[in-house]
Amino acid sequence: MNFEEAKSKLEKCGQLHVLKYYDELTEKERAELLKQIEETDFEVLKYCSQKDTLTKKGKIEPLASMQLDTIEKNREQYEAVGLDAIREGKVGAVLLAGGMGTRLGSDEPKGMYNIGITKEVYIFQRLIENMMEVVKRADAWIPLFIMTSDKNNDATIRFFNEHQFFGYDSEQVTFFKQEMAPAADYHGKVYMEAKNKISTSPNGNGGWFTSMNNCGVLEKIRKSGIEWLNVFAVDNVLQRIADPCFIGATILADCAVGSKVVRKNAPDEKVGVVCLEDGRPSIVEYYELTEELMNAKDENGEPAYNFGVILNYLFREKDLEELLAKELPLHIVEKKIPYLDENANLVKPEEPNGYKFENLVLDMIHKLDSSLAFEVVREKEFAPIKNKTGIDSVESARELLKKNGIAL
Ligand code: UTP
Repeated sequence: MNFEEAKSKLEKCGQLHVLKYYDELTEKERAELLKQIEETDFEVLKYCSQKDTLTKKGKIEPLASMQLDTIEKNREQYEAVGLDAIREGKVGAVLLAGGMGTRLGSDEPKGMYNIGITKEVYIFQRLIENMMEVVKRADAWIPLFIMTSDKNNDATIRFFNEHQFFGYDSEQVTFFKQEMAPAADYHGKVYMEAKNKISTSPNGNGGWFTSMNNCGVLEKIRKSGIEWLNVFAVDNVLQRIADPCFIGATILADCAVGSKVVRKNAPDEKVGVVCLEDGRPSIVEYYELTEELMNAKDENGEPAYNFGVILNYLFREKDLEELLAKELPLHIVEKKIPYLDENANLVKPEEPNGYKFENLVLDMIHKLDSSLAFEVVREKEFAPIKNKTGIDSVESARELLKKNGIAL
């Protein structure tokens, strides 16, 4: 793209300020900026003004979950089916590690965070240790795909190499990068993070399957015979990954996706809950849950929307293929975005100062025909690290890890 073409593209979407420093740039920097302008989808910015109407929900009804008592009764059978699937190479794991982890406030990838007290215990290490338990039990490796972003890819790969993959077989690990989206102020004008660089952020955790497709990793998966992909977040240091019982239950239920869920600890707990939306499986976010739904009861007098998702899903790969042609809803999220001020100094704001544009993995559920909500014991499987202190923090996760006998 040449300068005139870039100018015309920016003019059409009201972003000419991107060229403010063009005259000051070196040839190399100019080329970098023109390339970024060419590659950036500025279309998303026009949705800023429609922020609240973008993700309107349909008719919400309860969706029953498979609860602990049923799971315990059938555990042996589910685990046998799950272990067979792992041994037959039908299960892969996808670690979503492309997020910025801004709430935790570390400049490094979140997985590099050391949660240890008397020794080093990194978040990535905890996840690998959990996987190793299943690998040992099944006596088979589980291919692991790690999604990073432009912002943290090199640091993540370097870290895994420095730590010899924490004992995992590096041959089984594939890194891939997710796509980026521009980040803008509240008026929909993109921020600049350098004179030759538009501020960007990863395009949300819902981009993982499309990104796998775009970078050729999906082709590898198709050829390998993997049928199920266990997608999980970087920040839950207690979660079971490639859990044979969960895999077996989802396979036997013949569902397109299984979602691990926990019983909510309060009606207004800030987790998305499983439900039906216009008759299809879905997840309603805590801020979309009306007072009426929050207090609704099912036929047994139990809260009707009581099972929250923990970002641990088992997707049937062939069902996801159909999703490639479908658009996921766009979420416009308020975040802290580093930017160049009027004097071209880089500012790292303390408070949110604009919007990022994201697709979310939970929206994939609604595009699929069938879903199994699978209950797990929250004290044993849910220790998310979002913040340094308080709720869902390093502190709360440490407490839970100790309760589960994990030395820190
Ligand atoms: P979060 O919703 O906690 O977002 O991600 P985040 O960006 O990591 O953290 P904050 O909000 O800035 O503090 C949940 C999971 O989705 C992944 C994260 O790495 C985490 O595992 N994720 C999020 C991605 O892989 N890509 C993204 O673009 C966003």
